[in-house]
Amino acid sequence: MAKKIGILTSGGDAPGLNPVIAGFTRTAIKNGYEVIGFLDGWKGLIEGEYEKLSLDKVKEIVQEGGTILGSSRINPRKVENGFEKILKTLKNLDVYAFAACGGDDTLGVAKILNEKGANVVGVPKTIDNDLEATDQTFGFDTSINIAMDAIDRLRTTAKSHHRVFVLELMGRHSGWIALEAGMAGNANAIIIPEFEYSLDELCRLLKKRHDGRRTYSIVVVAEGVIFPEMKEKVEKVGKDSFGNVILADLKVGEFLADEIKERTGLPVRAVTLGHIQRGGPPSAYDRYLGLRYGAKAAELIHESKFGRMASLQGMKIIDEPIEKAIAERKVVSKDLWLLAKSFFG
Ligand code: F6P
Repeated sequence: MAKKIGILTSGGDAPGLNPVIAGFTRTAIKNGYEVIGFLDGWKGLIEGEYEKLSLDKVKEIVQEGGTILGSSRINPRKVENGFEKILKTLKNLDVYAFAACGGDDTLGVAKILNEKGANVVGVPKTIDNDLEATDQTFGFDTSINIAMDAIDRLRTTAKSHHRVFVLELMGRHSGWIALEAGMAGNANAIIIPEFEYSLDELCRLLKKRHDGRRTYSIVVVAEGVIFPEMKEKVEKVGKDSFGNVILADLKVGEFLADEIKERTGLPVRAVTLGHIQRGGPPSAYDRYLGLRYGAKAAELIHESKFGRMASLQGMKIIDEPIEKAIAERKVVSKDLWLLAKSFFG
């Protein structure tokens, strides 16, 4: 009888999840396995909710955004006997091994399950691109292209009205999306969580740019930036089940726009791109990367390489220990930040 293996997608969705599911299912079936998909992230494993994945089921999903399995931010650590329930589901359904696609929170749970004896492999997913042990996560390429397009579109209206536009982009702990989309979109200033850039410095730059000129400015800010002036606000906003501050409530873009208005008197508008960055069809690169990651995860199971994660190194897909991906966060280097800063103005 064919061994049964599973896959789940957990945390914020990312364009490329469906290609991962397709790559995993096709390779696993080719290797002789029966495949199931757990529904809505860890919830599916805790509650035993799943569906069978066949070649037919994944035939036309590569070009689709989102995840056909659904996702959630359910944290087994916060569910009573969460890990025990997961191990029980695996036993009851006779699941030999499974792949967890997610960012640091999901992979942290996968690592614990592996230590508890479950056969788990990982796939690195996040549009934020902040996972170590891989050169790039899938979803990132799509999101920076959407963000760059937003900058291009804001530029024409900003020009017409001689306005300052503040564009808030995703990126909780790392400023990769803001930095790369901001540079590609030729933004006038980019502010990211990794390096301090003060309101005074920014307003000086904007005043200089606009001084007596019919001009415009685009300022890109990563959602995870917390200016020292925002301390009180941070204490008031809620946290999700993994203990992350809910940044959608912090609204750094709006805060920044108000500060610029007050300090410079310039006409300012704030735009938050939000989940548009995660929606819609994946880019060609993310489809290709997702398919390869998914196939690699199925191969890792076939080779009994549990506790390991598919990883991109240069042009190659290799594998790395899951714990390496979560030990540290991949942040923007000083060199890159200084290069971006040298283009401000
Ligand atoms: O998954 C990463 C991410 O897109 C972050 O960039 C963002 O802060 C967060 O998810 C948003 O989470 P939610 O979809 O729960 O609002």
